[in-house]
Amino acid sequence: MFRIINFTLLVLVSTFFLLGCQSKTSEETEKKQSTGDLHSFANYHEIHFKHLSLDLAVSFDQKQISGTATWFYEKINKSNNYIILDTRDLFVEKVLDQNGEILRFELGDVVEHLGQSLIIDVKDSVGAVQIFYKTKPSSEALQWLEAEQTFGKKQPFLYTQSETIYARSWIPTPDGPGVRFTYDATVEVPKGMMALMSATNPQSKNANGIYQFQMEQEIPAYLLALAVGDVQFKAINDRTGVYAESSILEKSWNEFKEIDKMVDVAESLYGPYKWGRYDMLVLPFGFPFGGMENPILTFLTPTIISGDRTLLNLIAHELAHSWSGNLVTNKTWEDFWLNEGFTVYFERRITEAIHGKDYVDMLWSLALQDLKASIDFLPERDTWLKLDLKDRHPDVGLTDIPYDKGALFLRKVEETIGREHMDKFLIQYFEHFAFQTISTEEFIDYFKEHVLKDHPDWAKEINIKGWIYGPGLPDNHPTFEVKRFEAVNESITKSLETPSHIAAIDHSEWSTYEYLHFLKGIQKDAHLDLLEAIEKEWHLTDSENMELLCVWLEMSIEQEYKPAYARLDLFLNQVGRMKFLEPLYDALKKSSLGALGTQKLYEQKSHNYHPIARMEIEHILNMK
Ligand code: BES
Ligand code: ZN
Repeated sequence: MFRIINFTLLVLVSTFFLLGCQSKTSEETEKKQSTGDLHSFANYHEIHFKHLSLDLAVSFDQKQISGTATWFYEKINKSNNYIILDTRDLFVEKVLDQNGEILRFELGDVVEHLGQSLIIDVKDSVGAVQIFYKTKPSSEALQWLEAEQTFGKKQPFLYTQSETIYARSWIPTPDGPGVRFTYDATVEVPKGMMALMSATNPQSKNANGIYQFQMEQEIPAYLLALAVGDVQFKAINDRTGVYAESSILEKSWNEFKEIDKMVDVAESLYGPYKWGRYDMLVLPFGFPFGGMENPILTFLTPTIISGDRTLLNLIAHELAHSWSGNLVTNKTWEDFWLNEGFTVYFERRITEAIHGKDYVDMLWSLALQDLKASIDFLPERDTWLKLDLKDRHPDVGLTDIPYDKGALFLRKVEETIGREHMDKFLIQYFEHFAFQTISTEEFIDYFKEHVLKDHPDWAKEINIKGWIYGPGLPDNHPTFEVKRFEAVNESITKSLETPSHIAAIDHSEWSTYEYLHFLKGIQKDAHLDLLEAIEKEWHLTDSENMELLCVWLEMSIEQEYKPAYARLDLFLNQVGRMKFLEPLYDALKKSSLGALGTQKLYEQKSHNYHPIARMEIEHILNMK
């Protein structure tokens, strides 16, 4: 009841604004934002944005994407006269309707975090607007890599990162996760390069450099993606394959060649995969994330290729998003845990099915350790699952909370209601909300209706409100007794007492996670002798496993272990993944190099990082 009244009010407010809108004051901006999504200007309550058609050309010389975005729309509110889209740093040249007639448009004031609204006058109730536009070299979604920053070193590379609200910096679009549409695209790129999107993709280069794409399922704007480079394709089976630059294609394929089975496992858990193909694209080292779940084509960092397939849970994660996130999408960024928490839970279930309980318990336990540290560090209001993002950029929500507190909550549900009930519920949930968006409150209602109604005794034990709207972790949160860490714990104690004990540790059966647990276990009390002993036995400075290397380098900074510095320098030049860069720059800032020294170092390397990573590190280094 309360929500219905609220919604009517919102529609009234936004209708009032739209009828009276001529200029753009901050008061109007506020009204616009009160349409439900704090981070979008788009008037999606009044206009149904049905389909996007892109016709784009990519120029590496000018570092510019240019062309047209055509929106096919239908008015929900027939008396409405405007379409409002999100933009950021775009040159908009002109707008035509479906008959080629010029339409009046204006760009609103620049609003911090959000960019500018693009307001277009439209008379027809059903029609199309064709927007002629260009991106600026500063577009936040785009990383333009020089040839030297790629594996092949011969051709440049471009890729986009649209999540959370960066799609608007390369396409004028309603840019909130609550708006879904289909799209098609024609993209012209320099000859000799391939273009790929979050859509049906080519498997080989064509002579004229013009590529066509279709996405027939409705997706939100944050899943729009484009990559252009000198890449090739190699199939794994008839629905899965790998794209990568030729010099790392074979290595990538070897690492990923069993991913087809992972897709089967995911389907056997939570129902059919609904996107046709599942392909992966290995990007150059600059990619700021581990992975991004662009539908049909997951984007991946090359840092998960360790040679021994121990970091593939990251692919399980991106694959799981094909259900949680891409199929059932968080309504606003305040509901982000519905995307990430469900995905981490699902990822762990895939990992458990493949590697067993003893293995996945290590991942749960390491994550819980990190989660507790994050909770100690974060302001209390940032530890609720339902985020509070008013006047804030949605990326502030990118912490362990939506991921690991979210997953732990679902684990709590599983432990309370039993695995059978849990899986039945999740299958229903994915089916019921498929291709829709959902708020935290809709989830709670659905859960009450389908689980708690028949088992009221579970409600108290689960304590849904405590997890979702409360701080930190409820006292009765799940804990993990990890068999494979028992011996490791003993080694930690002994090594801290006597560094030479390292030589006696039997690590022949260790996976990445035993090493990680060991290193984190000694980190606080480590000292130079211990690091020397470890290096002598395990040669971590030369490790190809970037997860281990990163923790090792962090410890080396903390202990001023100089033999690792050359590798550190190389790593900071090469790798753009934020998860690694953040702790390293943070450790450098706290080291004897100091804040200023670290800023100088960063400035030498920042051209290798994606704009999103640069913003993040500059924040850590107090440069912004
Ligand atoms: N969707 C995220 C990446 C993302 C989130 C980008 C929010 C921008 C804004 C992706 O699925 C993800 O979570 N990646 C993680 C994987 C890890 C948790 C296994 C990463 O990149 O580290
Ligand atoms: Zn994710």
